[in-house]
Amino acid sequence: MNEVVPSHVAIIMDGNGRWAEKRKMKRTKGHQMGAKALKRISEYVYDKKINVLSVFAFSTENWKRDKEEVDYLMDLFLKSFKANFDTIKQKGVKVVFSGIKDRLNDKVIKAMEKMSEETKNNKNGIFNICLNYGGQDEITNATKRISKDVKDGVISCDDITPALLNKYLFNDLPPIDLLIRTSGEYRISNFMLWQMAYAELYFTDTLWPDFDEKEMDKALLAYNKRDRRFGGVTKK
Ligand code: IPE
Ligand code: IPE
Ligand code: MG
Repeated sequence: MNEVVPSHVAIIMDGNGRWAEKRKMKRTKGHQMGAKALKRISEYVYDKKINVLSVFAFSTENWKRDKEEVDYLMDLFLKSFKANFDTIKQKGVKVVFSGIKDRLNDKVIKAMEKMSEETKNNKNGIFNICLNYGGQDEITNATKRISKDVKDGVISCDDITPALLNKYLFNDLPPIDLLIRTSGEYRISNFMLWQMAYAELYFTDTLWPDFDEKEMDKALLAYNKRDRRFGGVTKK
């Protein structure tokens, strides 16, 4: 069977806390191991010629957690951005961020801006990091800006199409082909609602820190067995 490579893979990286709790460790240790897993997987994905990788790093709902955990995560993002920046640049991947910057601290915002700016002309793939991200927020934000442009006469109501709305999202990305969620939870948790309209969904019990290249291969194999009909009928 010829392998079909999905063009856009999105991952809800879940289960860091449970990974640590199972080992009687602090939840933060799970996040640290989760960051390592992401480094491995992101390199693997671009080597496989997958063009876009979107990852859920922090949701708009994750602020509900203890301050200690949130602070740890923000610090971890900063450290991981710094530690992985050279590899990203060397691979020629463009980094983009999705989410609202308002509650993020200045250091994190600066690091995000530096990464986006210095990789903006890269052509070997896109790494979309969803940080302080919510799918409903993204669509609401797009709707507001579209309404403003209609009011200001920049566009007319008739110009509004799915393709146009896509351009008003945090990033104008292709649709998700394969959505992976780890840790045995069967929900979307307000992740890329618009972009996953026709995504193939893959759920695994594996906790995110244990998700390695072999697990990725399993997900890609499952994707290859799917019959993507998009509402049509497959000709036999
Ligand atoms: C996912 O792991 C990482 C983030 C949400 C930042 P969790 O921290 O949600 O891990 P569990 O679900 O509690 O095991
Ligand atoms: C989704 O995981 C968010 C991230 C992976 C960053 P959560 O653990 O926050 O989601 P719920 O609480 O299970 O819906
Ligand atoms: Mg979770």
